[in-house]
Order: sequence, then C-alpha cells, then structure tokens
Amino acid sequence: MKFKRNILCIGAGYVGGPTMAVIAAKCPEYKVTVVDVNADRIQAWNTDALPIFEPGLLDVVRSARGRNLFFATDIAAGIRAADIIFVSVNTPTKTFGHGAGMASDLQYWEKTAHEIVDHSDRSKIIVEKSTLPVRTAEAMERILQENKKGIHFEVVSNPEFLAEGSAVKDLLGPDRVLIGSRQTDAGLKAAGEIAGIFAHWVAAERIITTNLWSAELSKLVANAFLAQRISSINAVSALCEKTGADVGEISFAVGSDSRIGPRFLNASIGFGGSCFKKDILNLVYISRSYGLNEVADYWEAVVRMNEYQQERFVRTIIREMFQTVVGKRIVLLGFAFKANTGDTRESPGIHVARKLLEERAALVVSDPQALDNARRDLAGVAGAPGTVEYEPDPYRAAADAQAIAVITEWEIYRKLDFGKIFASMRKPAFIFDGRNILDHEKLFKIGFNVFPLGKPGLTHFK
Ligand code: UDX
Ligand code: UDX
Repeated sequence: MKFKRNILCIGAGYVGGPTMAVIAAKCPEYKVTVVDVNADRIQAWNTDALPIFEPGLLDVVRSARGRNLFFATDIAAGIRAADIIFVSVNTPTKTFGHGAGMASDLQYWEKTAHEIVDHSDRSKIIVEKSTLPVRTAEAMERILQENKKGIHFEVVSNPEFLAEGSAVKDLLGPDRVLIGSRQTDAGLKAAGEIAGIFAHWVAAERIITTNLWSAELSKLVANAFLAQRISSINAVSALCEKTGADVGEISFAVGSDSRIGPRFLNASIGFGGSCFKKDILNLVYISRSYGLNEVADYWEAVVRMNEYQQERFVRTIIREMFQTVVGKRIVLLGFAFKANTGDTRESPGIHVARKLLEERAALVVSDPQALDNARRDLAGVAGAPGTVEYEPDPYRAAADAQAIAVITEWEIYRKLDFGKIFASMRKPAFIFDGRNILDHEKLFKIGFNVFPLGKPGLTHFK
C-alpha cells in the first residue's frame, strides 16, 4: 500500500511509543515507524508484552501494528524514508559538569540531530517531542542547517502533555495539542502539516499554534503549575498536622472555588515522575542563566517543598515507631510514582526506601507493576541487597510486618481486607498513609495505629 506520508519517531519510551500508536491508529494513510537504540525495547513493542504498562495501550497497538505501525531498530533506514521525524529521546537532568543537577543533558538529543543530518537526502520536518530547555529548537536548527547537502529541515515543537497511567485516554482526548513553529511561510506550513495529523481526531479549536519558544516554554510552565499545586497543598498538610485541620476537607473547600478547581490538590508523600522535578529545575536553570534570581528561587521552592514532604513522611515513621526502626519489617505498599504505571522514575518510594534502609529497617516492597524497576532502583543502595524483599502480593508482604507505608495510590489497596492483614502483623501495628486513600477510622477500629497525611494521627497508646 502506498502511504500518504512516512512518519518516524526516534525514541520508543513512555512518550514516543503511546503517541505513535495513537497516531497510527487514527491515521491509517500515514506509515508510522518507531525506532530506538534499545533493541530489547523494540523487540518488546513487537510482542504483546509491551515494554511499558499503560491501560488500553495494547489494544491500540494491536489495532495498527503491522498495518501502518512498525517498531524497528534500523535508525538510519528510518531516517532515510521519513518525511516527518518526531524526536522523543530522553533528556534527563545532567549529573555531571556545568549545570549538574539542574540543566538537561542534551547529549542524546544532539547525537540524534547529527544522525538525522547524516542519513537524510531530502528535506524533512523535525518535531521536538522531548521536553527541552527553551530555545533548544534553535540549537537543533543550527546543527541541522549546517548540512552541506542543500536540504532544509524545518523544526517544529510539539510538546506532549500526556500523563502516565492515563496516556491513551489523554492522547485520544487531549485538552489541547500545542504546535510551535517559526512564523515564516515554511514554518507555518510545517506546523499546518503536523496539525493535519492531529486533526484526524482532535477538534480544530483544541489545536493551538504558537511561536517555537512559546511552545517550548509552555510545557515547562504547565508542569511547573501542576507541581506547584501539589507542593502548595503538601505545605498545608504539614500545617494541618499541627493545628488539627484536615487537609482533605481543605482541598475540597478550596478546590470548590471554580477559579481554583479541584484537581491536583491531593496531599501526598510528594510528586514523582520523570517530568515535574526535571522540568522545574530546567525553568530554574534558565531563569538563573538570564539573571532572574527571584524567578528561579520562586520555582525552586516547589522542588524544595517536595523534598521536605518526602523527608517529613520518613521522619513521622521513625518518630511514631518509638524512634527506631532497626530490624523492623516495614512494607512499602506501592513503589510506582503514581497508580496505573510501572514507572518508578523519581518515585518518592525510592527516597523512603533509601532512608529506611539507612535506619536499618527490613523492607518489603510490594507493587502490582513496578517491582522490576524497584529492584533496579534499589540495587545500588547500601543495605538493600539481602534486606529488601520484593513481594507482589500485599497479604504476603504484610505477614509478620510491624508497619505499612502507602506509597502509591493503587485502587486495589483501598479494597484490601485490613482485618486479615492486621491479624497477620506484629503488634503494635502501624499504617502510614502517604496517599490518604484508606479509611483511617476503620483501620483504627481494627486496631492499627494510623498516621494519615495532613490530619491528626489515631493511636491506641495512652
Ligand atoms: C522522554 C523524555 O524524558 C521527556 O523529557 C520527553 O518529554 C519525552 O521523551 P520518555 O519517553 O518517558 O520521555 O523517556 P524514555 O522512556 O526514557 O524513552 C526514551 C527512549 O529514547 C528510550 O527508549 C531510549 O532508548 C531512546 N533513545 C535514547 C534513543 O533511541 N536514542 C538515543 O540516542 C537516546
Ligand atoms: C505530568 C503531567 O501531568 C503531564 O501533563 C506531562 O506531560 C508529564 O508530567 P505524569 O508525571 O505522568 O504527568 O503524572 P501526573 O499525573 O502529573 O502526576 C505526577 C506526580 O504528582 C505523581 O507522583 C502523582 O502521584 C503526584 N500527584 C498528582 C500528587 O501528589 N497529588 C495530586 O493531586 C496529583
């Protein structure tokens, strides 16, 4: 079959994979190929055991795979054949040199730009899908335009707003699709071409076009605003624990103001995920590099509050368990950074596990999807080998334990038989609910000492 256009996506991760699957499913006249340097990942995309867990994704992949959706390892061939190239490689926070801990590590992304130049023999549209520091498109353009082949690459920014765990739903019904381009004839034409892909299933008024820099910055700002709401309510949760107010009641009362709205106001053990911290630190780094120190400090406080919240959770555990957890069996219920994903990047669970291991607790990590990642995350942690047990079944995990700490808001945890769990645990038994998803009064009546977030603890001690 002759396809209207060849789309290539470089990077078959949490963003590239689901996004291309949905584009292929919705646009049968486009051939969509996804490539990655990681051959195992590509191999998994070609089976029914996909490399990432995402509700509804397998159905979408199966509807298009082999028809107009292909996963491959030959990056050079993919580039040669493509009319439009989405770049969705990872851009982690730098761990070395100038800007370490703050700026984005752009090495993969730059390597990809060079590969595109090397293997192209005609003009193409390049779409930035990775979240990047503002004005990265400009650097990408420079690398691409330096080619001596007389071909033109038009760089467009199309940041992805999907959230993990609801990626398919978010892709099928996005609040908006954002496309940034140069405001030249060629730039606007390229933006129009990308808009034409999404127009297959997204209403025209939800497709927003802007200049390149606005699109790049919008992604960072959207994530910073979302994270800022979580840090705000988490700051309030600390105050609630001192004053006897209930953070859940406050979220509801405050979120009922239509100007504020109810979402992203759940107090938690802290936000995780590959984006929030990285994107805010990027914003901080850019602001500082322009001498805007007050702006940088303002956003940096969002990250500091998040670290404080994670630290506070661990301190509560230790304090309430009589100032020592040495040798105590403690269950982390959940390890993913949020429910409905196996992803553990920046999960608060990592921090909690690390700290409790430093305090020499005997940890049991339980999660329905994230245990492989948890094993990798904790492999290098001192004290972890030998002392950490990985147990997918929450009942088996809790047997003989002294405490349970809820890290991830998996729906299944709300429905556990806590009477049975209590009976199997050592006494006094503790629950620290880092997500406020359990029925605290009921747990207290069963016999647990219960420590929710942002409301007074319930203990049986006189
Ligand atoms: C990544 C970025 O982290 C995020 O900022 C951006 O918004 C989208 O892309 P994600 O898809 O979650 O997010 O990352 P990851 O799951 O790590 O996927 C990136 C993939 O790119 C990996 O499979 C990696 O093997 C691949 N890659 C990386 C390449 O194919 N080539 C490279 O040079 C580097
Ligand atoms: C986020 C953005 O939502 C998405 O638009 C962007 O493309 C990528 O970054 P993601 O990190 O996948 O998506 O998940 P999100 O649902 O935003 O949750 C991030 C973290 O915040 C999770 O750890 C979650 O548990 C936490 N969170 C969320 C809270 O602690 N409280 C809330 O009220 C909401």
